[in-house]
Amino acid sequence: MQLQQILFSQGFGTRRVCAGLVQQGLVRVGGQPCTDATAEFVPDGLRFTVQGQEWTWHGKAYVLLHKPAGYECSQRPSAWPSVYTLLPAPLRQRPQRQGTPGVQAIGRLDQDTTGLLLLSDDGAFIHRMSSPRRHVPKVYEVTARHAVDDGLLQRLLGGVVLDDDPRPVRAAACERLDSHRLALTLTEGKYHQVKRMVAAAGNRVEQLHRSRIGGLALPGDLAPGQWKWLEAGDLARLQGG
Ligand code: URA
Repeated sequence: MQLQQILFSQGFGTRRVCAGLVQQGLVRVGGQPCTDATAEFVPDGLRFTVQGQEWTWHGKAYVLLHKPAGYECSQRPSAWPSVYTLLPAPLRQRPQRQGTPGVQAIGRLDQDTTGLLLLSDDGAFIHRMSSPRRHVPKVYEVTARHAVDDGLLQRLLGGVVLDDDPRPVRAAACERLDSHRLALTLTEGKYHQVKRMVAAAGNRVEQLHRSRIGGLALPGDLAPGQWKWLEAGDLARLQGG
């Protein structure tokens, strides 16, 4: 693939901008500057720098972000900054691929919720991970206002009725972590589901953190606001439950 096309596919700008970056000597491949925009490289795993920014070619973007509190998951946030501002510009600007307008958050976390957020530009993957039919388990750690007792766990496991649907919703698993904390596993994703379930069960969510999706846990060494590429093993764990 031509170097200008490689840069374009990764979100470094329009085709013209990418050709210009190469011609101006701002792109290094294997440590050497390359000024020929049409030079051919095998893109898979190619490492290069653009204006000093290190990059590895990824055909599709699969990204995990440790969402901090105080960010909205929308591209057009209403009151808080968008989580997309936490990603580097090339990820935000990746070109559209077969109907997917660049990198998208898969599902949403509330502004005050922290933890594991997936983003991708692979439309089939986004659909698979967000489809309610697939029941991908998600684990939320809840800090509750009132003490967590057995009754609360039983009500969450047995099913509570939310205001928009007469059918009860149940936690797939529910575990007390300490006097005011519990881990709740859900296999569906209704609006504000954890907060509404805990309220319907007679308590109140003070803090909410998503720690796991499928078999993939939020890495302990990824600080709030940091992101990482998902590797093949991570993708397998995600779908492994
Ligand atoms: N449930 C909620 O109530 N909020 C979230 O952010 C995620 C799940």
